[in-house]
Amino acid sequence: METQELKGPIHRLGHWIVDRFVNLPRWVRLPLWRYWHAKMINWDTEYDGVRFMNYGYAPIDAPDLVLEPEDRTEPYGAHLYHVAVSHVPVADKEILEVSSGRGGGASYIARYLQPRRYVGLDISDKNVEACERIYGELTNVEFVQGEAERLPFPEDAFDHVVSVEASRAYGDVMQFFAEVRRVLRPEGTFLLTDMRWYPDMEALKAQIREAGFAIESEVDIAPNVVRALERDNERKVELIQRRVPKMFLSAFSEFAGTIGSDRYRAFADGRMNYFSWNLRPA
Ligand SMILES: C[S@@+](CC[C@H](N)C(=O)[O-])C[C@H]1O[C@@H](n2cnc3c(N)ncnc32)[C@H](O)[C@@H]1O
Repeated sequence: METQELKGPIHRLGHWIVDRFVNLPRWVRLPLWRYWHAKMINWDTEYDGVRFMNYGYAPIDAPDLVLEPEDRTEPYGAHLYHVAVSHVPVADKEILEVSSGRGGGASYIARYLQPRRYVGLDISDKNVEACERIYGELTNVEFVQGEAERLPFPEDAFDHVVSVEASRAYGDVMQFFAEVRRVLRPEGTFLLTDMRWYPDMEALKAQIREAGFAIESEVDIAPNVVRALERDNERKVELIQRRVPKMFLSAFSEFAGTIGSDRYRAFADGRMNYFSWNLRPA
């Protein structure tokens, strides 16, 4: 597929919105975020086919993840989750995922890695409704609507808490970390996989420590994210062109990190960092 060059005032506006969104005040950001996700579901009439909302992970000098035929449309989204939980054994554990989105990660982990119980929480009721409809037959998975900063669970409820590509949008990351500590069992692990602009990454690591977590391991996955964006570009561009209204095309291409977007270049040139962490209560 041709590299898609994104230019012009509309693209610049889209770029600005995607870039500045996380800095807007919480009272503006939360309704906008809900609106954006509700819209995305409505635009995507083939919703059932899109189960991941992340940039993905592609192996470099290593084999692809082995997936059943029905899971092969979005292998990079699934691989990102595989990496996110690969730090610890998950079979027979009780796991909470904060910001489970369209449930692709929950479904992958529940079916392939067999936790005893997997709870996917998301702020968007549309996402939760769709997940309940699509994955209702999985006996070890449930979905709940809720906020990362106010987890609706008692203390010491989970062996692991997973969060993939979501904490950047939260109003108060320290409050989210405090909630994760509260619901995690003392021997539990917090499996955080996320991105930040280069100058903000050190601040995030400082916040992780300040919140009382020790960094047991840290993997820089930005090169794998770039590889995934390249390998998945054709599918994403085709989907965006078919489903997204014209006036949102540029903003959406930027959001999706298609080749030619600044987001894609930022991962490639190190301005945007992406790590997978295994964190333990210190
Ligand atoms: C980029 S998507 C990632 C979804 C999923 N983790 C994945 O990788 O496919 C971010 C998700 O975070 C959710 N989200 C945003 N703010 C949230 C909050 N404060 N509490 C819970 N979920 C939130 C959104 O609804 C969305 O589903």
